[in-house]
Amino acid sequence: MIKWVDFQSLGDERGDLVAIEIGMEKAVPFEIKRVYYIYRTAEGVSRGYHAHRNLKQVAICVSGKCRMVLDNGRKRENIWMSNPTKGLLIESMTWREMHDFSDDCVLVVLASEHYDESDYIRDYQAFLRLATI
Ligand code: TYD
Repeated sequence: MIKWVDFQSLGDERGDLVAIEIGMEKAVPFEIKRVYYIYRTAEGVSRGYHAHRNLKQVAICVSGKCRMVLDNGRKRENIWMSNPTKGLLIESMTWREMHDFSDDCVLVVLASEHYDESDYIRDYQAFLRLATI
């Protein structure tokens, strides 16, 4: 269930740089339609608690760290995110939670679709019913 997308660091002695371009579909397995980022998450706050019917995402922790929980209805995995060159692929119909954000955590998310509230499943029991059909 854990699939990483590797981004090349173009770093040199000055520091690191990662570029993500449209047309990188060999690395990111969808056309990127939206990018958003989560940052300055308040202490003790957890986020997510939903799945998406169709949306696919790649999450990249570009600063700090956080813990991602992915759940496909059968199996639940804990994944520590802290490497800016590694994107975590989140397939559709995957329940996700984000916990233990460090103060400096910045989570960049590449998304396969525009924002659409009707694509969300926010009820875990409803998710389980749909995921285990
Ligand atoms: P939500 O996806 O529930 O956040 P998280 O899963 O990280 O806890 O989104 C929080 C709010 O932001 C919600 O009201 C919808 C809005 N939002 C947008 O308008 N556009 C977006 O691209 C995203 C991701 C969220």
